[in-house]
Amino acid sequence: MERIRWYKDMVFYQIWPRSFKDGNGDGMGDLWGVLEKLDYIKALGCDGIWFSPIYPSPGADCGYDIADYMDISPEFGGMEAFKQVLEGVHARGMKLVMDLVINHTSDEHEWFQKSRQRIAPYTDYYIWRKGEKDGKLPNNWDSNFEGKAWTWDEVRGEYYLHLFAVKQPDLNMDNPLVREEVKKILRFWLDMGVDGFREDVITYISKKDGLPNDRVFPIYKGMRHYNHGPRIHEYLAEFKRDVLDHYDCFTLAEAPLVSPKRALSYIDEHRGQMDMMIQFQCQCADCLFTDYIPLPFSLRRMKKAFTDWQYKLAGRAWNMLYLENHDHPRIISRYGSEKFWKESGKTLATALLFQQGTPFIYQGQEIGMLNWQPENPDMYEDVQTRYTYAHSSLNKPAEVRLKKMWRSSRDSARTLVQWDDSANAGFTTAVKSWFHVNPNYPRINVAQQDADPDSILNFYRKAIALRKSLPAVRHGEYREHLRLSGKHYVYSRTMPGERLLVVCSFSGKETKLPLPRGFDLSQAELLLCNYATPGTGLHPWECRVYRWQE
Ligand code: NOJ
Repeated sequence: MERIRWYKDMVFYQIWPRSFKDGNGDGMGDLWGVLEKLDYIKALGCDGIWFSPIYPSPGADCGYDIADYMDISPEFGGMEAFKQVLEGVHARGMKLVMDLVINHTSDEHEWFQKSRQRIAPYTDYYIWRKGEKDGKLPNNWDSNFEGKAWTWDEVRGEYYLHLFAVKQPDLNMDNPLVREEVKKILRFWLDMGVDGFREDVITYISKKDGLPNDRVFPIYKGMRHYNHGPRIHEYLAEFKRDVLDHYDCFTLAEAPLVSPKRALSYIDEHRGQMDMMIQFQCQCADCLFTDYIPLPFSLRRMKKAFTDWQYKLAGRAWNMLYLENHDHPRIISRYGSEKFWKESGKTLATALLFQQGTPFIYQGQEIGMLNWQPENPDMYEDVQTRYTYAHSSLNKPAEVRLKKMWRSSRDSARTLVQWDDSANAGFTTAVKSWFHVNPNYPRINVAQQDADPDSILNFYRKAIALRKSLPAVRHGEYREHLRLSGKHYVYSRTMPGERLLVVCSFSGKETKLPLPRGFDLSQAELLLCNYATPGTGLHPWECRVYRWQE
């Protein structure tokens, strides 16, 4: 029977729970806060929520270090609050997606505690290698966050592998017992009624046999031996066959450095093991592989990334569309213009929302939140930021190093959601919150934008509603025009009976309206524009959506 891929008609909202909304007044975002805001999310036009991890965790990587997969952290309200949120989500006809982090656990997870003591059956749950303390490491791989990928464990007297922080030991997915644990976790949440999973760095879970050394110079040393490893498709197929196929759910794979061609081996609708993929190419228009190696923004690179994925997945797989999440600085500060804040915020929304795929909007994106710029590096919380700050560009003045963090840090997008202009931006009633608020909150906040028909928030609402009303957004063929333009992103979406043209200016100056051949405006209807008075040319950062109907 053909699967109903309901996620294709949806728009998701990503909640990074610590900073979303505090409902019980302790200064930490929680599920009680989410419950208060379900109507807000629904009114934005979103039908689904993806939660970054809300499980018990020591918080070494803000929840991506899980200590118990089958519970909800008390700091977020525990299972009681979760069940209410799940019910509230479903009562509104929405879906809920959990974050599944199975490449690694927390070192405080019971499995790791037992594994380091060689207690059966946990002995081989992790990737242990012999060696000598302060001796030669098992191989030359780097971790993504904190130096080398190996840490010596005194208790076991061996090294363990961690591709991320020291407190995030990698699971040994080659062990069938570990895969059974994963299946138990999947069933546990699906039986409770959740609708799917976003799977954290899922392409890393199968490591090459023998864990060979990498060459000397790659940026992510070791990656070629663990990204898309030898048994990745086998394991994902096993999870699908044994669990996922028995539920009406979807899976979203996070896949660093994946090309559309490779993505098809995971998400092809006939042969794939998963449904959608979070690609990183659309995040690399102003950096080299990672935000920490910044480059000037290139519109052509951004367009190429989006267009490649649109063309190559067409008719075979479904795109996941995003501009922001908890791992990247804010998009207006990167691809847009803080000077033309409102205009560029709306243009970026338009550039994204009329492509084919399922959009994911990250908390605060809908009000155009900007990068946070702390005056002191000690204000950063994120493990990756702290490590990078302490270890890179040491020959540069402190001020230059700090500015680099403003631009690159994940914390730039993890400040508290700005709900109104009261203390702590209305995030909490506590005097002190767990993290900082961007001082621009009196100017940029939900309450103010809710009341302003011309706000970024109201533009998102309108654009999402429009997207849902236009069959060509779901079904139409995508085609990019004026590919070489360094100022405009122009694409059309065409299906029998309906044709759309999306025109976005990425210039801070007036420009000519770039009209591709064959699009006659005298027959067109202007459905969306971020200026009240569209003229014959384009204003700075102007965007338009036109429709032709036959
Ligand atoms: C990707 C997640 O999005 C990120 O936040 C996390 O730190 C790493 N994976 C490690 O789990």
